[in-house]
Amino acid sequence: MTRTLIIGGNRGIGLALAAEHLRRGHHVIVTCRQRTAELDALGVEVVEGVEVTDSNSLQRAEQSVSPGNIDRLIVNAGVLETERFDALDEHAFANIEKQFNVNAIGPLRAVHAFQARLQPGSRVGILTSRMGSMADNGSGGYYGYRMSKAAVNAAGKSLANDLRPRGVAVALLHPGFVRTGMTGGQGDVDPAQAAAGLSDRLDALSLESSGRFWHANGSELPW
Ligand SMILES: NC(=O)c1ccc[n+]([C@@H]2O[C@H](COP(=O)([O-])OP(=O)(O)OC[C@H]3O[C@@H](n4cnc5c(N)ncnc54)[C@H](OP(=O)(O)O)[C@@H]3O)[C@@H](O)[C@H]2O)c1
Repeated sequence: MTRTLIIGGNRGIGLALAAEHLRRGHHVIVTCRQRTAELDALGVEVVEGVEVTDSNSLQRAEQSVSPGNIDRLIVNAGVLETERFDALDEHAFANIEKQFNVNAIGPLRAVHAFQARLQPGSRVGILTSRMGSMADNGSGGYYGYRMSKAAVNAAGKSLANDLRPRGVAVALLHPGFVRTGMTGGQGDVDPAQAAAGLSDRLDALSLESSGRFWHANGSELPW
């Protein structure tokens, strides 16, 4: 059975990804900081107390996951703050650092912590955002979010190069504008629809297509 591990799956898109992979017949493992009733209701393997800004916590999680390789590692955890240029006070700069730590360094920590579980044929999906695209930035603002997602795109590209000799493919994935807690319920699609598209992208991922930036709807995005 295909084993899929989702980092940060207690709510939102991560929870929907867990449900979608369960529907597709995978053995699903979810890490989270704190479990929720919705996650428990899925009946998947859960590792609680996992904080992506803490390498030790991720290494403990790697030890706690049931024995076996990970065929699909999805790093979903992320945060959004909304800094504006005319209001860059110390609080805003602290939020920019926080977003870097969670959104950019967190996925690198997570893939590094679980690398021993990745085998030839394993696939890694990193939830990024088109807000990290330089080419797509027509409105400014959102300094920490845009910078951290651009940085995780750079990390994902390096991971694609570094993991290719091990037979592991990596995709940078934008889920669309999704109605979750992060967007205050605004968006074009529900988490379930985004999760189905993201899962299709990972089904199609190969070493040939590794290191590219995809929208959940299947279109390729510019860096
Ligand atoms: N929604 C959109 O329109 C949209 C668009 C583009 C990209 N994305 C990306 O998609 C991913 C999921 O977003 P979402 O909309 O589902 O957001 P969400 O509803 O706010 O959920 C965020 C998830 O990340 C987890 N998380 C946050 N900080 C964490 C940390 N330090 N350690 C471990 N887990 C942490 C949260 O866990 P807790 O419950 O413990 O906080 C939660 O499970 C994010 O990477 C986001 O940037 C979303």
